Amino acid sequence: MHRRRTKTTSGGRGISEHLAPVNTPSKISEQALEVRELTSIDQLYGFECSDPDLNDYLHNAALNSFDEGTSKTHLVYYNSVLVGFFSLATDIIKDDHLIEDDAKPGFDPHNYPAIKIARLATHKDWGGRGIGLFMVKQCMAIAIVISRRYAGCRFITVDAYKERVGFYH
Ligand SMILES: CC(C)(COP(=O)(O)OP(=O)(O)OC[C@H]1O[C@@H](n2cnc3c(N)ncnc32)[C@H](O)[C@@H]1OP(=O)(O)O)[C@@H](O)C(=O)NCCC(=O)NCCS
Repeated sequence: MHRRRTKTTSGGRGISEHLAPVNTPSKISEQALEVRELTSIDQLYGFECSDPDLNDYLHNAALNSFDEGTSKTHLVYYNSVLVGFFSLATDIIKDDHLIEDDAKPGFDPHNYPAIKIARLATHKDWGGRGIGLFMVKQCMAIAIVISRRYAGCRFITVDAYKERVGFYH
């Protein structure tokens, strides 16, 4: 995957305010997590995951990407703390990239519509608590709503680093 590095990462405020408190549960219940749209750079202060390129994208490019129509970013909060984000875009899969059972016999355009998880990350101090899994489920739920109500969408694709593909299995 091609990712561009540009400017700085995590905004002006210290990240200590985003440290998971010692009494934070080892698994966070899905009901305690809230998803909000990214609408302002002010929402992002203090967020830092373990991947510098993803930090860079979130802080320096995510808002513009929405304006440019290339991806939409969703933020995940726990008790008003930003603990994760994911960015979605539309995608296309050509039928010669599919295994036989996934293709629709006789489908003429040969290009299947999909939703792509373009980027996804958990705050580096909040890992291992189920936030990543919650975000993947959210992506799936959004894709289902799109395909049932708004537009054809047959697959969910993932733009992932090779060494992290295991997370999505
Ligand atoms: C990968 C990442 C999103 C996981 O987030 P998280 O909030 O710690 O994930 P969860 O706590 O929901 O873990 C869900 C499951 O995935 C597993 N998992 C976590 N990271 C993994 C990885 N890198 N490879 C394989 N499995 C992984 C966990 O062990 C857990 O399995 P379990 O339910 O059997 O215990 C997070 O480590 C991260 O942001 N990494 C940097 C960015 C990144 O790699 N993004 C994703 C792909 S490009």
